[in-house]
Amino acid sequence: MSYIKNNTRKNFYGRRISQISFWIIISFVILYILTKLRPFLLTPDQFRTTDTVTFEISKGDTTDKVSSKDNSTNENSLLFIAVLTHWRRWKRRAGIRETWMTQCTRDKARCLFFTDDVGAKENDKRLLESEISRNNDTILMPMTEDMSFAFAARLLWILQWAVNHSNFEYFLRIDDDHFLCIERLLHELPWRPKKALYWGFVHCKPKIVRIDEAWLILTRDLVSEILSKINTTLPCHPIGDQAVAMWMNNSTYNVTYFMDNTRIVHKTAGHDTKYYTKTVCEKFISLHGVFDVEMRKLWLVWHKLYRAKLSSMPRYKISPIRKFEKLCPYSKVFSTDGFYPEYRFESRLCRLNPTWSISKSVHPGREETGERYSSY
Ligand SMILES: *[C@@H]1O[C@H](CO)[C@@H](O)[C@H](O)[C@H]1NC(C)=O
Ligand SMILES: *[C@@H]1O[C@H](CO)[C@@H](O)[C@H](O)[C@H]1NC(C)=O
Ligand SMILES: *[C@@H]1O[C@H](CO)[C@@H](O)[C@H](O)[C@H]1NC(C)=O
Ligand SMILES: *[C@@H]1O[C@H](CO)[C@@H](O)[C@H](O)[C@H]1NC(C)=O
Ligand SMILES: *[C@@H]1O[C@H](CO)[C@@H](O)[C@H](O)[C@H]1NC(C)=O
Ligand SMILES: *[C@@H]1O[C@H](CO)[C@@H](O)[C@H](O)[C@H]1NC(C)=O
Ligand SMILES: *[C@@H]1O[C@H](CO)[C@@H](O)[C@H](O)[C@H]1NC(C)=O
Repeated sequence: MSYIKNNTRKNFYGRRISQISFWIIISFVILYILTKLRPFLLTPDQFRTTDTVTFEISKGDTTDKVSSKDNSTNENSLLFIAVLTHWRRWKRRAGIRETWMTQCTRDKARCLFFTDDVGAKENDKRLLESEISRNNDTILMPMTEDMSFAFAARLLWILQWAVNHSNFEYFLRIDDDHFLCIERLLHELPWRPKKALYWGFVHCKPKIVRIDEAWLILTRDLVSEILSKINTTLPCHPIGDQAVAMWMNNSTYNVTYFMDNTRIVHKTAGHDTKYYTKTVCEKFISLHGVFDVEMRKLWLVWHKLYRAKLSSMPRYKISPIRKFEKLCPYSKVFSTDGFYPEYRFESRLCRLNPTWSISKSVHPGREETGERYSSY
């Protein structure tokens, strides 16, 4: 009797011990998985206080680095935002001034419009001048009539201006019909690579893989590299994003192509009601094709009715940059012969100040024909 009892007890304890070890092992496995997933489970605020090395840097690094730079140029901003705008786009600028641009603070984001008065009549020039002096947020580029189709030249001029006036770490070139979730972008930048980053909406097409110029971020090292070649080998092209793609193609840095096509909406978002939700900036980072009134409507729905009433920042998710090869099967080596003839131009050296004539067959801009600041 007691023998049987003992035996069952032994069995009982044996089973118990193996069950306990089983659960200990399972706990370790779960713990391990959780550690791996940690960046995805934590909110950015919690994430900031951790010391995991999954992401390159901590918030503290950035601010230190920015403020310790010398003051020879006027200011230290994390991000320099250049909004390219045609002088005729008064309403678009007004829309941006009243919405996302209100969130630009000098130390974090220096936001400026860049325009020129090519094609403007005397009266328009006067209006533009008064707009510029009233708002103090617009730089007039000295472009001449024959440069109406020289987007690489414009971009280069802006890059030089930015470097001359700001100690930025990141440069964003953005169209005047982009609704930018600026808080989210600024919150996210400290976790992104500080070196050799080429970020935006990628056109994933054979031979012509490139980031659309409507929303394009470059780190300062890439900007410096581009400008260092300006008097020698740098090629120019009438279409800005093709020029940048060539510059990246020839960079000596190991450039990270950050293809962010789900969060940077490339289609005309302003006409699509599905984007008018209060959480739009928790899902996306920038919406293209948002014109005038639409800019204010989105700002109302997102900012005034939702974000401004929250007591703390929303839980913006920061996902790691996915390997480019997983998202786009084509080689990053860029070749203009991948384009249809109407988009195909031969590149020429920037130092020769090349100009191109506009082919009649070139696809017009989005809102109306003649628009040359929207990309295609
Ligand atoms: C740069 O300016 C900041 C703020 O005005 C000041 O605190 C800092 O000492 C200056 N740095 C240098 C190197 O002059
Ligand atoms: C305009 O901005 C510049 C810096 O960009 C500043 O020095 C100047 O005081 C501003 N002027 C006005 C009128 O706000
Ligand atoms: C930037 O500074 C350089 C050197 O001082 C000057 O040659 C160039 O014209 C400036 N460019 C702009 C756009 O400010
Ligand atoms: C290019 O040439 C201009 C004008 O001669 C000069 O101001 C500038 O510093 C040069 N830039 C480089 C990177 O050599
Ligand atoms: C891109 O880089 C490759 C070498 O990596 C080179 O053969 C090619 O000419 C470059 N293309 C352009 C447009 O610069
Ligand atoms: C790319 O770099 C190579 C070697 O430095 C140079 O010969 C070529 O002209 C450059 N091409 C472009 C498009 O910059
Ligand atoms: C370039 O960077 C990627 C990751 O950012 C890395 O996997 C790759 O090995 C690097 N290539 C070179 C040549 O350094």
